[in-house]
Amino acid sequence: MPAKTKTVFVCSQCGYTSPKWAGKCSGCGEWNTMQEEIVSAEKSKPMPESRISKIAAAPVKLKEIEYFDENRISTGIKEFDRVLGGGIVKGSLVLISGEPGIGKSTILLQMCKYINEETSILYISGEESPRQIKMRAERLEVSGENITVFAETDMAAIKERVLEKKPGLVIIDSIQTISREDISSAPGSVSQVKECTSEFMRLAKNSGIPIFLIGHVNKEGSIAGPKVMEHMVDAVLYFEGERSLDCRILRAVKNRFGSTNEIGVFEMANDGLREIDNPSKMFMQGKPEGVSGIATVSLLEGSRPIIAEIQALVSSTPFPAPRRVATGYDYNRLNLLIAVLEKRCGLYFGASDAYLNIIGGLRISEPAADLAIATALASGLKDFIIPSDTVLIGEIGLAGETRIVSSIDKRILEAKKLGFTRCVIPAKNKLLSEIKGMEIIRVSSLREVFSKL
Ligand code: TYD
Ligand code: MG
Repeated sequence: MPAKTKTVFVCSQCGYTSPKWAGKCSGCGEWNTMQEEIVSAEKSKPMPESRISKIAAAPVKLKEIEYFDENRISTGIKEFDRVLGGGIVKGSLVLISGEPGIGKSTILLQMCKYINEETSILYISGEESPRQIKMRAERLEVSGENITVFAETDMAAIKERVLEKKPGLVIIDSIQTISREDISSAPGSVSQVKECTSEFMRLAKNSGIPIFLIGHVNKEGSIAGPKVMEHMVDAVLYFEGERSLDCRILRAVKNRFGSTNEIGVFEMANDGLREIDNPSKMFMQGKPEGVSGIATVSLLEGSRPIIAEIQALVSSTPFPAPRRVATGYDYNRLNLLIAVLEKRCGLYFGASDAYLNIIGGLRISEPAADLAIATALASGLKDFIIPSDTVLIGEIGLAGETRIVSSIDKRILEAKKLGFTRCVIPAKNKLLSEIKGMEIIRVSSLREVFSKL
């Protein structure tokens, strides 16, 4: 008799399960993400041959564990290495996720070009045929001496091939196409994605082979979002950017082997992705002059300062509930800054729509950008122009006071490199050394900025 089957509803975003369908997931609050999945009455087991031997799992003294620093393999792409924390760690499982068409396959294939020749690479493709991969490789000028392409979607076959070939690196494009035969759900469903990911984790840890997984994020939730596998893998890198723009940002959101604040900046060109050594310069391109609502900020992304342009548009509205729109910035933080401007500076936004945009597809989460954003909003409302040679740095408290930010020297030096000559900073921020050619304007409150600009 066939095993009994029952169905459950699984959230494709967070993996929350429920016996009944619901429009809204009770786990993460997303709408329309609950999907029906068949679960067989038998509990899913790890694949038989993958059982870790008892000996390998024996406890070991921390002191006695061998560790080699040269365990990292360089990708040959500086920006990529930086985000990984200095290269690929042997035996690690790295997830690269992003919207379809953003360039995930491109960056990994390009990495194959620069990685040293002794590292053999197994490229497992469940999406594209070997011929399509060849076409892309031609375009990217990847010779492919050390690359083996394997078009397969069955987990058992992939595992067998990896253990047989023992490559130096494995790329899975993409995890949503891989499935295990013994699980009845369709490829891309939450249970398939989860089980296959943990299978790859075991494979990477037992064999010491680093594995890259590509995972699509889909807003409609028709494919299991990489959120369900984030806690399983060693590192999660997000590849983001506006698809209509050329700029792409690789960001580490989780990294067991490095900092999570680092970003890598790329530009999509005809011959693949190009590294951007000086992202500030790119973000400053085409900055309008003599227009209100434009401010410049010096951010810190990991260890690296980046100059970004902020645009605010404030226009009067006849409607009683004005619109607040933030692109690349937190909507609630925007509302908070508007509230501080109203209460502490006497600026009235109640009859105006406010739109905020961070140029270049950047996403700002640092409070150090508060001062620049609030000043841009005030400039948009009152139509005064912020001088184009000025950079604003500082966090703002609810009392309208400016609060100190970290690594102020680094931020100012980056601004100086790009030709800025004035910098507004919190009054209490101390500089390690004097910076020549840069006028430092210290302000203790947001209100003070307007009189000193
Ligand atoms: P791709 O790597 O296939 O995206 P993903 O794997 O994330 O789905 O990237 C596809 C996009 O990149 C496509 O829209 C075309 C663009 N592209 C270029 O602009 N130049 C190139 O050299 C390549 C290979 C792709
Ligand atoms: Mg792809």
